[in-house]
Amino acid sequence: MLINHYSVFIPISLLDSVDRQFDYILRGCHCSARSLARNMAFEGSMKDRGEVRIHESLDELSTDLADYIAELSEVSVKEHGVFTVALSGGSLINLMRKLCDAPYNKTVDWSKWYIFWADERVVAKTHVDSNYKLAKDHLFSKLPIVPSHVYPINDSLTAEEAASDYKFVIRQLVRIRVINVSNISDCPKFDLILLGMGPDGHVASLFPNHSVLEEKNEWVTFITNSPKPPPERITFTLPVINSAANVVVVATGGGKAEAASMAIDDVGPECLGLPARMVQPGVGKLVWFLDNEAASKLKRFS
Ligand SMILES: *[C@@H]1O[C@H](CO)[C@@H](O)[C@H](O)[C@H]1NC(C)=O
Ligand SMILES: *[C@@H]1O[C@H](CO)[C@@H](O)[C@H](O)[C@H]1NC(C)=O
Ligand SMILES: *[C@@H]1O[C@H](CO)[C@@H](O)[C@H](O)[C@H]1NC(C)=O
Ligand SMILES: *[C@@H]1O[C@H](CO)[C@@H](O)[C@H](O)[C@H]1NC(C)=O
Ligand SMILES: *[C@@H]1O[C@H](CO)[C@@H](O)[C@H](O)[C@H]1NC(C)=O
Repeated sequence: MLINHYSVFIPISLLDSVDRQFDYILRGCHCSARSLARNMAFEGSMKDRGEVRIHESLDELSTDLADYIAELSEVSVKEHGVFTVALSGGSLINLMRKLCDAPYNKTVDWSKWYIFWADERVVAKTHVDSNYKLAKDHLFSKLPIVPSHVYPINDSLTAEEAASDYKFVIRQLVRIRVINVSNISDCPKFDLILLGMGPDGHVASLFPNHSVLEEKNEWVTFITNSPKPPPERITFTLPVINSAANVVVVATGGGKAEAASMAIDDVGPECLGLPARMVQPGVGKLVWFLDNEAASKLKRFS
């Protein structure tokens, strides 16, 4: 694995063999030595685009992702007794699967997790398109999560009503400080928001050129014309995503390479409106988890 820690690039396996003094950054990961050459040319300049972690395989990515989430959970629970996390759907959930295995299934304090959805399809909770169902089937049903700490949308409402209801639910939890408040906005501050990214650069249900990108006042909003089915979704807005303490964007496969470059590289102004590029936490930390294919068009790595 390759970590761009803001301005620091650490080619893991190379250090492993030559320079033991950097062991503390290794975190048990591996990557090829050619990464060093690829990366030395690109030191610096990524501060506002976050940390980029590139993985040789999906297996390595899943392990690193599970590790990272477990670490954030530990820190949050230590700091304020809970871990509030918002999920999306898609391949992200499968890439989180290692959390169900040892050691995480035992070492993570699952009873402190509160689970939300950064976006959800307006379908029944039992529907194959439901992000809730996806996460339940592949994650929660295998972990000791407290059922009352899981917050699916109300699936008997319309998209508009469901968005408004979800905002109300979150507001109640903010009021009793299960969810923190951002000190730079009036928005809830989730401990972690986990996002995938589409080949078109969409994140959550924030699609390119959609008016939903301009929503500044609502925490949760809805769309009824998603370019990708199903058409009706609810979604966190950019202000909420950018108020999180931590945001993780996971993208794998060559189909995401163009969007990853447009979201991360120093590119022209035409990319500024790409939803994935608009993910810019104000005080929180942003980390990209990519595989080699998704990273293949990053200018700073080629
Ligand atoms: C954790 O997952 C492992 C499989 O990786 C399994 O053998 C073990 O029983 C699980 N432990 C708990 C407490 O669920
Ligand atoms: C969902 O909305 C319906 C219709 O307003 C309501 O009857 C029901 O109690 C709600 N369910 C939950 C879990 O809030
Ligand atoms: C909220 O965040 C502040 C710092 O921003 C922290 O001191 C406090 O413990 C947090 N509280 C909760 C309930 O998360
Ligand atoms: C907001 O909180 C962060 C830590 O979470 C801190 O670094 C920053 O200085 C705070 N900003 C303001 C305006 O209080
Ligand atoms: C968004 O709009 C820009 C220019 O307005 C256009 O170049 C781009 O292709 C559009 N993207 C999508 C996904 O429609």
